[in-house]
Amino acid sequence: MNLAKDGALSSKLPWVGTTIFTVMSKLASDTGAINLSQGFPGFDCSPELVALVEKYLRTGFNQYAPMAGVPALREALAQKTDQLYGVSYHPETEVTVTSGATEALFAAITAVIRPGDEAIVFEPAYDSYVPAIELNGGIPVFVTLAPPTYAIDWEDVRGKITDKTRLLIVNTPHNPTGRVWTADDLAQLAALVHQRDIWIVSDEVYEHIRFDGRPHLSLATHPVLQERTFVCGSFGKTFHVTGWKIGYCLAPKALTAEFRKIHQYLTFSTVTPIQYALADYLKNPEPYETLPAFYEHKRDLFLDSLRGSRFQFQPTEGSFFQTVSYQSITDEPDYDLAIRLTKEIGVASIPVSVFYRQKNDFKILRFCFAKNDDVLLQAGERLCRL
Ligand SMILES: Cc1ncc(COP(=O)(O)O)c(C=O)c1O
Repeated sequence: MNLAKDGALSSKLPWVGTTIFTVMSKLASDTGAINLSQGFPGFDCSPELVALVEKYLRTGFNQYAPMAGVPALREALAQKTDQLYGVSYHPETEVTVTSGATEALFAAITAVIRPGDEAIVFEPAYDSYVPAIELNGGIPVFVTLAPPTYAIDWEDVRGKITDKTRLLIVNTPHNPTGRVWTADDLAQLAALVHQRDIWIVSDEVYEHIRFDGRPHLSLATHPVLQERTFVCGSFGKTFHVTGWKIGYCLAPKALTAEFRKIHQYLTFSTVTPIQYALADYLKNPEPYETLPAFYEHKRDLFLDSLRGSRFQFQPTEGSFFQTVSYQSITDEPDYDLAIRLTKEIGVASIPVSVFYRQKNDFKILRFCFAKNDDVLLQAGERLCRL
C-alpha cells in the first residue's frame, strides 16, 4: 500500500533526508566559510580535455551513444586496465560506460539483490550503497570499522556471512577514511567468498589517488575475486570533472550481461561527446600517472598546516580526504562541532558519524583537500585556532 493515512505517498526510504553534504555546503556558502566538506576539486580540469569535448560537440557527436558506451572509450578502458593491472576485460562484452560511478553502483547492486538478500557493507560507508540495497528489498549487514586504523576484522566479517548473503561492497581507496586495501585484505576476502554465491561490488573511484608509493590493488587483480566482481570507476575524480557524471563498470561477461539489462532501463546510454573526448584523452597516461604526486603534495601541505593544532591524525593512505580526531580538544558530538567550526572558525567539514547507520561518534571530522594550495593553508591556519 503506497498511500499513508493522510493520502501522502509513504516513503520507501523513510530514514533518508537532506544529506549532510547539502547541509554543510549551504552553511559554508551562507557563512562564507572555506568549504572542505563536499568531495570535489576546487580547480578546473585540463584545457586539453575541454578542447576535445568541444571538438566533438562541434562536429556532430550529439546523438545517443550505443547503450554500452562508445566503442573507442570501452577499448581505451580495457587497454588501460590491462596495462595497469594485467587483467583483460573484453571491450564488447565486459566494459560498460555509465552516468557516473553512482549509476554503475546502483545497476550492479540491482543486478544482484533480490528481496530478503543480505549485503555486507563496511561502515563508515559512502552514502549511495545502502539505499540501493534497500530499494531492491535487500538487507544491509554492517561491519563496523573504527579509528585510528579502520582495519577490517575478518573474523567479524566471517561471522556475518549467512546463507542469505549475496553481496559484499568494497571501497578502496576508501571514502571517508582514505584506507587502501592490502594484499592480505584481498586474500582474506577471496578465502571467504570462494565457492559461495556471493558477488562483489568494488567501488574504485579513487584508484589513482593513493599515497606514499602504495599500489592500488584492484579486486580485478585477484582471480577468485575478479570472476565475481563488478568494478565501478569514475572519470570525475581522476580528471577533476565530477560535474560530468561519467563512470564505468568492468565485470566478467555473464555479470555484465545482467548489469546491462539494468543500465539500459536506468539511463540507456551516457553523454556522447564526452565519451569520444575521454577515449582520446586516455591515450596519454600522464594525467593519471601524475595524480598521486599531485594530491600527495596537497595532503602534506594541509597536514603541515595542521601541525600546530591539537587535532590528531595519521596521513591518509588514499582518496582526497583526510580524517582528523578532535578527541583531545573537546567531547562535543562531531555533528555539532562541524557546524560550530563552520560558523566560528570558517572551515566546513563532514562529521564522520554520518557514514555510520547508528551514527557512531568517534570524534572524527573529514576534510577534503582537493583544493588550491592557498585555500588549504588558510584553512589550516584557521583550524589551528581551535
Ligand atoms: C566512494 C565514492 N563512490 C562513488 C562516488 C560517485 O562517483 P560519480 O560522481 O562518478 O557518480 C563518489 C563521489 O563522491 C565516492 O566518493
